[in-house]
Amino acid sequence: AAVNDGPLKGRHVLVTSGPTHEPIDPVRYIANRSSGAQGAAIAQALLGLGAKVTFVTGPADVAAPMGVDLIEVQTAAQMQAAVKAALPADAAVFAAAVADWRMANTVDEKIKKDGNGLPVLEFAENPDILASVCAEKQKPKLVVGFAAETQDVIENATAKRKRKGCDWIVANDVSPSTGIMGGSENDVTLISKDGAEDWPRMGKDQVAQRLAEKIAEALG
Ligand code: C5P
Repeated sequence: AAVNDGPLKGRHVLVTSGPTHEPIDPVRYIANRSSGAQGAAIAQALLGLGAKVTFVTGPADVAAPMGVDLIEVQTAAQMQAAVKAALPADAAVFAAAVADWRMANTVDEKIKKDGNGLPVLEFAENPDILASVCAEKQKPKLVVGFAAETQDVIENATAKRKRKGCDWIVANDVSPSTGIMGGSENDVTLISKDGAEDWPRMGKDQVAQRLAEKIAEALG
């Protein structure tokens, strides 16, 4: 099939992906173990169904798919600004592992080991990008969030869907024993207002394909 052909032809889908990096000083930052693999696979699958994809990504291990409108960011604040600028969209998938906190004060010079004791890092809360987009006038018709949990996965993810106001939540157990974070497979439950749909463990690309097809179906 030609590029931009398929059930999502003419649709704009926004995808966030990867971790964010929150600077401490010019040479240090806070990060997390997100590889960006699931987000990149989702963008790829959406492209394959003909969507125009805006891909807003933090510093990921995995390359962005060819053919997306690529916006690279470092911090949660930059990701939020990029997401707002990318709207309107028909659908949005928030696969990024956004840092919950940033430094309350970043400093312009490298923090020195000066013998005056240990530095104390003070945190400030980052904006919740997903929740803020769901509360917007420009909320896309279908908004999909992720919930990476290590305990009570379904309960936590169900509560998270309501709290954030998104349509679907893709819930997964990221306990180290699952090998999911940084791995090539995922084991997810899709949560909507109608309940929880448990998908078998499969490749991240297969999760992406199935999710993209469901998005196409929901947009009609
Ligand atoms: O609250 P928690 O981080 O578990 O929520 C995960 C979902 O919310 C993911 O879809 C993530 O991309 C999104 N999120 C966000 N901005 C934040 C925190 C999470 O968009 N600051």
